[in-house]
Amino acid sequence: MKTTAIAVLAAVMVALISACGETQPNDPASRVEALLGQMTLEEKIGQLNQYSNTFDITGPPPEDQVGRVRLERIRNGLVGSMLNLAGVEETRRAQEQAVEHSRLGIPMIFGLDVVHGYRTMFPIPLGEAASWDLEAIERSARIAATEAAAAGIHWTFAPVVDIAHDARWGRIMEGAGEDPFLASRVAEARVRGFQGRDLASIDTVAACAKHFAAYGFAEAGREYNTVEISENTLQNAVLPPFKAAVDAGVATIMNAFNEIGGIPATANSHLQREILKGEWGFKGFVVSDWDSIGELTVHGVAADLRGAAAMAIAAGSDMDMQGEAYISHLADLVRSGAVSEDLIDDAVRRILRVKFQLGLFDDPYRYCDATREQRVILSREHLDAARDVARRSIVLLKNDNDLLPLDATRGSIAVIGALAADKDTPLGSWRARALPGSAVSLHEGIRAAVGDDVEITYAEGAPLTVGERSFLHELTFNTGDTSGFAAAVAAAEAADTVVIALGEEAYQSGEARSQVDIGLRGVQQQLLEQVYAANPNTVVVLMNGRPLALDRMAANAPAILETWHLGSEAGHAIADVLFGNYNPSGRLPVSFPYHVGQEPLYYNAKGTGRPRSRGDVFWSHYTDAPNRALFPFGFGLSYTTFEYSAVELSADELAIGEELTVEVTVENTGERSGTEVVQLYVRDLVGSVTRPVKELKGFRLIELEPGSEQRVRFILTADDLAFFTARGRWEAEQGEFAVSIGPSSEELTEKRFVLTSGCEPSAQNVR
Ligand code: BGC
Repeated sequence: MKTTAIAVLAAVMVALISACGETQPNDPASRVEALLGQMTLEEKIGQLNQYSNTFDITGPPPEDQVGRVRLERIRNGLVGSMLNLAGVEETRRAQEQAVEHSRLGIPMIFGLDVVHGYRTMFPIPLGEAASWDLEAIERSARIAATEAAAAGIHWTFAPVVDIAHDARWGRIMEGAGEDPFLASRVAEARVRGFQGRDLASIDTVAACAKHFAAYGFAEAGREYNTVEISENTLQNAVLPPFKAAVDAGVATIMNAFNEIGGIPATANSHLQREILKGEWGFKGFVVSDWDSIGELTVHGVAADLRGAAAMAIAAGSDMDMQGEAYISHLADLVRSGAVSEDLIDDAVRRILRVKFQLGLFDDPYRYCDATREQRVILSREHLDAARDVARRSIVLLKNDNDLLPLDATRGSIAVIGALAADKDTPLGSWRARALPGSAVSLHEGIRAAVGDDVEITYAEGAPLTVGERSFLHELTFNTGDTSGFAAAVAAAEAADTVVIALGEEAYQSGEARSQVDIGLRGVQQQLLEQVYAANPNTVVVLMNGRPLALDRMAANAPAILETWHLGSEAGHAIADVLFGNYNPSGRLPVSFPYHVGQEPLYYNAKGTGRPRSRGDVFWSHYTDAPNRALFPFGFGLSYTTFEYSAVELSADELAIGEELTVEVTVENTGERSGTEVVQLYVRDLVGSVTRPVKELKGFRLIELEPGSEQRVRFILTADDLAFFTARGRWEAEQGEFAVSIGPSSEELTEKRFVLTSGCEPSAQNVR
């Protein structure tokens, strides 16, 4: 650390110890205040400034103008954070620039999108949510954090907690699906996993719940599009997972690109100041999304970057990611009186507090241990955990005549499809620092799982895409090349069983990957039909980042396994399920439609005034497709069967402060042990505002041996029944409720009870 910086920090500490006898010098709040008191306005604003890495920080000084300016600013204490740096050497070099050269030596905080793993890749988040296994999800985030922290990263831009109702939106792969309850539990698990028990531990990273808010509600599923939702939907559907993340102690929040009700999220005081920092008491900081402050001018709510900076800081956006707005204009805005310095101080405090919590002031290089980096990243233990989480995330959608599991000891299998040999696609999008092409392919997984007496052949059939596949550029699909079909059909004919991999390549979902067609792209459906005609013993292994419209496929293929993009160990995990070494236990966290035209499609919708036909056409429906999902939320098969019986309530009334017990007996009636996800839904029959036809309020994973049964018990209180009412508050309303239990959102046994205390749903004190 530069001598002057040491001197200033030392003076601050001495001042603290001597001036205020009772103040603990290690108390983060006092340390923040002491440091703040030393900072110039420019240095404060520097803390709000974040850059993406544009030059090789370990190399010679940057030659380009942007690189030079950034390096200079880091050395002048004008950069509080960087993103897209990784690795001990790189982060140490970058940190040295700030710590050794700037006046106060304030360390930078390094962020990266560690969304489902750092180098050991876990399933994409939507896939992982399909496990419904909160311990597994927490473990996955814990390992991702351990690897990222070992690579010098302090902060992940995850979890994504955006609820999404529309499978056309490519970023549906990053979240936990369509349900606020499940997504809230997953958000908590991920925050716990990333942040561990203590942010100061060297194997934890600060988490960032994003994108605040309603980014998943882009009109028509088109990326970055306008969001137009009511306060009712915002409060009841969108915000709960954010609130859960905040209650779980998430250190930071990222705002969003979209506008909502005419105000871009980045300039939205209602969201950031009133709700997040006000009502919820969030003490961490808000980072903008990539240049989302700059984009306020493009949205047309600010005339120029200066205006954008003023709006964003007033609205509670604390850190400017890559936007240049704060660093260019805030100082002048403060000096001219247009922006109060209190706003700057509040933002700086929030950022410094997180840096203190991470221990960066105690040792800015504590995350930079090359030996640890070498030992921890991609360890055998991490890969084994990735395989375990991956197989828990697989959902068996169809299994006619028990075609699965396959015999691993004899017979012949034709493995077909470009995705079956693809070692890159299973890594998915947002793959942090995964090594390209490092996943175990399905073909490899099958080979490793079978004995010598099983004959395996492979045929590509047809490439899925042509040309370069990249995160940055559009994909081009193969729509005409069927030259490999004949070999695939011949392989199918010659084999006892076919395993065909179909779906989406890695970058077909993720940011900026909206689609109007969510069926199989290219010539995949044709390939499937020809292969199926040659051999009906066809198992489809789906790899995809969003729900697909599988109507045509489901009409034929006898077995369908949803495997998402499962990460580094994908092939082994899928083989575990194909050959019955693992009995599938995943359940869909999102509805799969018959047809894209049903989107947005979600199980917890409103009933409307005309939910059923009264013998004529005048009810809420399509004339050419059903309303329901082809594969509904919560659905997934097993190699065994479970029977539900004796659903009982402890009472038929509940009052505030009391508990209602809901019990069910679940029996494994098949021949294998298996895990069942027991689900509990509630419907509020009369509310001050319309209520969803059902809402998940509890779930339990139970493991049962064949022939054994378990009494599963849920406890409901009035808090579980609360929602954002017409009075604009979260509260439970008196009246009748339906509670139902079952194996999916569509197979339920219903009971009724009455909430006897709480607000009246009647509308007289409303609106
Ligand atoms: C995405 C964010 C991400 C950021 C930094 C943006 O384009 O919307 O989710 O964290 O880039 O990579």
